This record gives sequence, C-alpha cells and structure tokens, in this order.
Amino acid sequence: MKNLEFTIRPATLEDAEKIYDLLNDVGAENTYFLLEPDERAVEQITVLVHQQTLNRSLLLVAENNGIIVGVLGFIGGGFRKIAHVIEIGLAIGKDFRKSGIASTLFREAIAWARKKGFHRLELGVLSTNQQAISLYKKFGFQEEGVRKNRYRIEETWVDEILMSKLL
Ligand SMILES: CC(C)(COP(=O)(O)OP(=O)(O)OC[C@H]1O[C@@H](n2cnc3c(N)ncnc32)[C@H](O)[C@@H]1OP(=O)(O)O)[C@@H](O)C(=O)NCCC(=O)NCCS
Repeated sequence: MKNLEFTIRPATLEDAEKIYDLLNDVGAENTYFLLEPDERAVEQITVLVHQQTLNRSLLLVAENNGIIVGVLGFIGGGFRKIAHVIEIGLAIGKDFRKSGIASTLFREAIAWARKKGFHRLELGVLSTNQQAISLYKKFGFQEEGVRKNRYRIEETWVDEILMSKLL
C-alpha cells in the first residue's frame, strides 16, 4: 500500500473534462474497460454529473494535489422495476493505484446507497481483471455468473464476470 494524500468529493460540471481524460487514460490501457478512448464522449460525463442532482446517482472524484486521480460512479436504475439497483463504474489512474483510493470511494458510495434506500449493487468485470475482482470481493460482492467470450481484446476472447451485493 502506497502512502498518498487524497481527498474525495462529488464531481461538478467543471470536473467533466478531467474525468473524461482520466477515463480515456485508463481506457487506453485496453485491459479493463469496454470503452476505448475514441468510443467515449465528454457529454456522457456531463449527463452523469447532472443526474446527481436528482439524487438517483453519485459521481465521486478523488483528488491528489488538485489533480483528479480517481472516479467512481453509482448509477441508479432508470426504470421502476429496477429503481432499487445501482450499476457501478470505477477507475483509478495508473500511478495512484494501491493507495486505498478505490476502497475509500467505495465506503463513501455504499453508505450513500444505503441512506438512499437502494437494495442491489451490480457490475460486470473482465475475468482477467483480478485487482478489481479482489476489491469487489473485499466489499462483499459475490459472483453471479459468467458471460463467456463477451469481450474480444487484441485477438483474445475474454469472459465477463457478473457480480452483485445486496444491501
Ligand atoms: C481495481 C482498482 C479500481 C483498484 O483501485 P485501488 O485504488 O488501487 O484499490 P485499493 O488501493 O483501494 O485496494 C483495495 C483492494 O483492491 C484489491 N487490489 C487492488 N490492487 C490490487 C492488485 N494489484 N492486485 C490484487 N488486488 C488488488 C485488493 O483487494 C485491495 O485490498 P487490500 O489492499 O486490502 O489487499 C484499480 O486498480 C483500477 O482503477 N484499475 C483499472 C480500472 C478498473 O479495473 N476499473 C474497474 C472496472 S470493472
């Protein structure tokens, strides 16, 4: 575990470009995300920031010396039958991993989700992403299934693991 100072707070519209850059940097690693850099638009981030005002979603950022080094999205289900469900997205900049940032973001976001009365957290993760799977298990997520060969990354098939946690 690295010793790194960071603070966390909800994202604002002014953060959208920086979050976009961070997500593109992590996307360019080509190992963790569905979206590659040219498949994302900054407007998608702005929409998420706006959604927070409806109290149905949370977008948290982690900052180190004024630089956004981590982002976590808890996105509430948009239809009545899944209004109790949260879909999770998470990224920490390459040089800032293993410093407890994801764990801190997770603790804060799970407390928020409980307070708002959400019942189920869910996500899909590449079967090769052991660091993320280990993080999710640490927070009590369980594997629910496998979507075989869901991804094709540089000529290799990769399964998606579906995980969830009931609150
Ligand atoms: C997965 C990720 C979010 C973890 O963020 P982080 O800030 O480094 O995580 P933390 O420092 O809070 O570590 C929390 C736990 O994650 C797991 N973990 C983190 N890095 C790990 C690694 N390199 N190897 C194994 N487990 C790891 C461990 O369980 C760790 O708990 P521990 O320190 O008690 O062992 C980060 O590596 C990342 O952003 N990866 C790229 C993007 C990504 O995979 N997003 C998720 C897509 S589903």
